[in-house]
Amino acid sequence: MTNRVSFSKWIGFITVLSATLLLWIVSMEGSDQTEKLLFWSRYTARPSSLVFMLVFTASALNYFLSNRGTQFIRQNRRNLGLPFAYAHGIHLVALSSYMWVSGEQRTPDSLIIGTLVYLMIFAMALTSTNNAVAKMGLVKWKRLHRIGVHSIAFVFVLIYLVKLLEGQPQGGASDAAMLTLLYGILLVGYLLRVVH
Ligand code: HEM
Repeated sequence: MTNRVSFSKWIGFITVLSATLLLWIVSMEGSDQTEKLLFWSRYTARPSSLVFMLVFTASALNYFLSNRGTQFIRQNRRNLGLPFAYAHGIHLVALSSYMWVSGEQRTPDSLIIGTLVYLMIFAMALTSTNNAVAKMGLVKWKRLHRIGVHSIAFVFVLIYLVKLLEGQPQGGASDAAMLTLLYGILLVGYLLRVVH
């Protein structure tokens, strides 16, 4: 028996989550506009990293730990790919606003890697239809999506590793604990997928 939640319901869920997050950040006391935009950039990347990890590890999770929860994730994997692209699109809006207002410069290599990964996310989102699979051919389609998901996973794991090693500016003890937890989840997910 399948237990799929439609794509539009996942999009609705992410929209409500993002709007709640934005309201919470806007109502924060003691932070100026630039700091609020920085938090918006950070907190939009976090749920999107978890949605991505569910898609990335769906088969491996179900293989190593088969139960109703992992079966549900496996069955919803396809419907979660586009909501991830949508969630990370919100991160793009947030980080662009932050960089515009703060005038912060990123290193050229991080900008190049980030842009390439975004292009990959958009290419995967645009080719996530049966029509696109037919046009591209299964081999090319699988290659694009395999390279894509591995690049995204690698960038998430790398960013959180660097943040943990270097410490996060304007991040207190609870932020460090949350980053450690997120990094642990992403690393375990990444390793599960690699050994699967
Ligand atoms: C050119 C493209 C990108 C730019 C300019 C960019 C910029 C930013 C900025 C300004 C922040 C918040 C400041 C900070 O915490 O350091 C941030 C956080 C983050 N970004 Fe992006 N980003 C880009 C692409 C990506 C991509 C492609 C991914 C993942 C696939 C990603 C994942 C993250 C993560 C995980 C965080 C940390 C959130 C946290 O602290 O929990 N970013 N990014």
